[in-house]
Amino acid sequence: MIAVGIIGSGAMGSGIAQVVATAGHEVYVLDKNGEALLRAGQNIKASLKKLVAKEKITDAQSEEIYSRIHLVKEMNAFAKCGLVLEAIVEDLQVKQEVFRELESLVSADCILASNTSSLSIASIASVCKQPERFIGIHFFNPATIMQLVEVIPAVQTREGLSEEVKELVKSWGKVPVITKDTPGFIVNRVARPFYGEAIRILEEGIADAPTIDWAMTELGGFKMGPFTLMDFIGHDVNYRVTESVFASFFYDPRYKPSFTQKRLFEAGYLGRKTGRGFYNYAEGAPQPEPNKDEELGRQILNRIIAMLINEAIDALHLNVASKEDLELAMMKGVNYPKGLLWWADELGLQHVLDTLDGLYEEYHEDRYRTSPLLRKMVKNGQTFFQYEKA
Ligand SMILES: NC(=O)c1ccc[n+]([C@@H]2O[C@H](COP(=O)([O-])OP(=O)(O)OC[C@H]3O[C@@H](n4cnc5c(N)ncnc54)[C@H](O)[C@@H]3O)[C@@H](O)[C@H]2O)c1
Repeated sequence: MIAVGIIGSGAMGSGIAQVVATAGHEVYVLDKNGEALLRAGQNIKASLKKLVAKEKITDAQSEEIYSRIHLVKEMNAFAKCGLVLEAIVEDLQVKQEVFRELESLVSADCILASNTSSLSIASIASVCKQPERFIGIHFFNPATIMQLVEVIPAVQTREGLSEEVKELVKSWGKVPVITKDTPGFIVNRVARPFYGEAIRILEEGIADAPTIDWAMTELGGFKMGPFTLMDFIGHDVNYRVTESVFASFFYDPRYKPSFTQKRLFEAGYLGRKTGRGFYNYAEGAPQPEPNKDEELGRQILNRIIAMLINEAIDALHLNVASKEDLELAMMKGVNYPKGLLWWADELGLQHVLDTLDGLYEEYHEDRYRTSPLLRKMVKNGQTFFQYEKA
């Protein structure tokens, strides 16, 4: 079993280290910040202890897992690793610097990987002497719990490496999907309308935040409504992702951020963590009630789902990922109640097309343009999946 190196021991690095050590690998974790490294060690210990308390693992197993985690100060420790995964600050120059230094210290067959959420894998790999061994391995937060891992080959990545990494990720008990090196990969691209269209509906005054959240959870089956979720993620993080995806798509209006969220971010109303976002989390603050008008709720759900489905179909149209991986990604990465393509079949592709064309007709905005694949499939009377006739 290969030894694995992790660079960066923050939220992601420490979680990934725990996952990989639990799967039986020796793991070497490095951080330039000694305190962060010690904290990571303590966090992993505490996390394993919780699993013991829940009787998921025994005390002996917890100790054995922890004994495989080595906190290191020098990159030399990675000389024996078969894979080194970077999870440091989201800054291209800093990441490139790390890989420049790292490559001379690791063996020639060591796989190099980045956990970046928003940078292109090609741009990080470009500084390597052997960029063909570079790949994206994108975990979701918290890495110990979320099952999905996006595997992202860059243009430079050698043939076959994605499949090898996919098998490795599977052996860690995770669900890997393969995606093209395009902005947001699968999840952070396809999920944009969950936030963006919900905010648009709010901005137009069609419904308030609790009503939209109610429609999406009660009628749509989502675990959290968009406004509760954005408050949970934090408007600093969620707004920045939206802005970065928008810029990376050469300012495609489909991904345009909203002033509503930007102002919350600017005001420091970051959500739960600051006590205020779309909702007020101060103790005793009155919680606004949703308007449980079912017709209104269904209109809201239909509009947001149609926009999500359109994103998923367009990602398929542009070969960002396979049908199966698109479905898995949204169910395992963001806990959607159903795969979006399956949902499209269930609603009827004609209905989805009519909803989107209706929005385009009303607004004449490019964000409502329909994926050519949806139009083509409707024309040909196709569905995404085969169903047994009842
Ligand atoms: N937090 C998330 O939800 C999430 C999800 C998926 C992917 N990611 C990606 O994972 C990466 C890390 O995110 P995070 O949330 O764990 O960040 P974090 O800020 O919690 O941790 C980053 C760690 O990297 C260390 N570091 C910075 N520069 C370094 C260097 N040159 N050498 C060694 N260590 C260095 C810092 O000291 C810090 O401990 C980013 O690329 C981020 O985009 C984050």
